[in-house]
Amino acid sequence: MRNKITVVGAGAVGSTVAQEVARRDHSHVVLVDIIENLPQGKALDINQAGAVLGYEPTVVGTNGYEETAGSDVIVITSGKPRSPGMSRDDLVTTNQSIVAAVTEAAVAHSPGAIIIVVTNPLDAMCHVAKDVSGFPKERVFGQAGVLDTARFRTFIAWETGSSVKDVQAVVLGGHGDQMVAVVSATTVGGVPLTKLVSDERIAEIVQRTAVGGGEVVNLLGTSAWYAPGAAVANKVDAVLLDQKRVVPTTAYLEGEYEIDGLYMGVPAKLGAGGLEEVVELDLTDEERAAFHKSGDAVREVVAVLDRDSSE
Ligand code: APR
Repeated sequence: MRNKITVVGAGAVGSTVAQEVARRDHSHVVLVDIIENLPQGKALDINQAGAVLGYEPTVVGTNGYEETAGSDVIVITSGKPRSPGMSRDDLVTTNQSIVAAVTEAAVAHSPGAIIIVVTNPLDAMCHVAKDVSGFPKERVFGQAGVLDTARFRTFIAWETGSSVKDVQAVVLGGHGDQMVAVVSATTVGGVPLTKLVSDERIAEIVQRTAVGGGEVVNLLGTSAWYAPGAAVANKVDAVLLDQKRVVPTTAYLEGEYEIDGLYMGVPAKLGAGGLEEVVELDLTDEERAAFHKSGDAVREVVAVLDRDSSE
């Protein structure tokens, strides 16, 4: 029997998630949006692509939540994307009310689901989804880390002329310009990056990664969707196939990395139980300081949330 996943938001990211997940063949997909006909049209198109590509799950588009009942995973992508000149944090007030409303509606029909948040500002929106759903931290986490790491790994593959498959890297911290690429844990085919690339070039690649989302926004006028959609599907696989993947994930920290009561990106084990374990890396003093600075930036955005209205 196939699993069932709900994707809220049938825009650029949500429809990419729906397509990526449908192609994996393990789950039926329900795509929800407030715009009439949009999720229905996207679902029809994705179903018909199955005839060409050979996948068989049912993709349903809807403007309500009845069809979402009993979902194993709920992916939240609804909300405004960035435009050029905006930071992710500029979206906080608009997207808080959207994420709160869709969380409430979705969990009412799927009380046992695992929620994966994508809407920005990501770390703050994870707080909203957790507060509104009342779900434990294991069942509410965010997408960002795999995407940020994918950007870092891509740039390293280009720099070293190596396959991206052989680049291992971790990016930690908030999903903002203060994110921390952990150079000490970055290798190419097992060889430390620092042995292959000059410190100066590494610093440039780290900086390009930190503003990697903005680079796409400046080119497209809106935020990215292919890599974010693929990154979400990777986490959906980890949960629904109980893969125990250890991947960068926006997790609710309670003392790990000396941070308490805050969502931040860290390596975490994902499986059938959701976020099953936060993995603590040995950071250099410099990396630890940068991680805490990123935490301060996340706290500033979380402080802007109207927490009373989302509890
Ligand atoms: N319920 C359901 N869908 C909604 C709601 C709501 N209350 N409010 C907005 N939406 C839908 C919009 O109608 C739109 O179709 O969310 C969709 C968002 O799609 P896009 O505008 O294409 O945005 P997208 O690029 O997909 O980004 C969505 O993900 O990566 C983040 O920063 C990005 O926060 C943004 C989110």
